Amino acid sequence: MNIESIKRKSVAPVYSMCVQPAFIIGTNNEDGTYNFAPITWVSATHEEGDGYLLVISMAGNKRTKQNVIRTGIFSANLVNTQMLPLMDYFGTHHAADGEKDALEYKVSKGRVLDVPTLDASPWIYECEVSKTVETGDSTTFFCKIGNIQMDERLECRDIFDVDLTKLDPVIYSGRYHSLGRMLGEIGDFCE
Ligand SMILES: Cc1cc2nc3c(=O)[nH]c(=O)nc-3n(C[C@H](O)[C@H](O)[C@H](O)COP(=O)(O)O)c2cc1C
Repeated sequence: MNIESIKRKSVAPVYSMCVQPAFIIGTNNEDGTYNFAPITWVSATHEEGDGYLLVISMAGNKRTKQNVIRTGIFSANLVNTQMLPLMDYFGTHHAADGEKDALEYKVSKGRVLDVPTLDASPWIYECEVSKTVETGDSTTFFCKIGNIQMDERLECRDIFDVDLTKLDPVIYSGRYHSLGRMLGEIGDFCE
């Protein structure tokens, strides 16, 4: 097997924009209305036992972060390519400047947690914060996943069998991208 080596150059650690999944976070405002904003610093880890924690990081003092700190709950709505206008709009407008109502979108309630969810999303986590870590002006939330809502048309044989090409997610790295091909499963590429 001939795997080609790549010549690299060293640069200052300012290129933080590596591969990031795009989620729009839905939160409850203090007055009972909802707010949505994109957050792409999202990952996962284990809690004790086999459960998963969603790990999500928010900088500054944005409304979304204030709402998560106050209520301890939120929805993480995976963004597909048809939702790009929504994400772009939510991400370039701040709740502090007024309601984000220039675009039309449908909102429902979570099935397990009292969180606003976007009808347009094919995959939604309903999350509850269990631990927070502060670094600089950022807060990282480790969150129990109370429920996952998955597009009914997805048929998964096992927990690894989620065909991302069907979810059509937006990948962010400072620019918006879409996903290419599905390449195979674990074990397909080694003897
Ligand atoms: C594509 C995209 C990704 C973003 N990812 C993050 C992120 O991971 N963490 C963060 O703190 N802000 C992130 N932001 C910034 C917030 O979405 C933005 O500040 C938004 O206006 C906050 O809205 P709010 O004030 O209504 O909460 C992102 C923005 C965009 C457009």
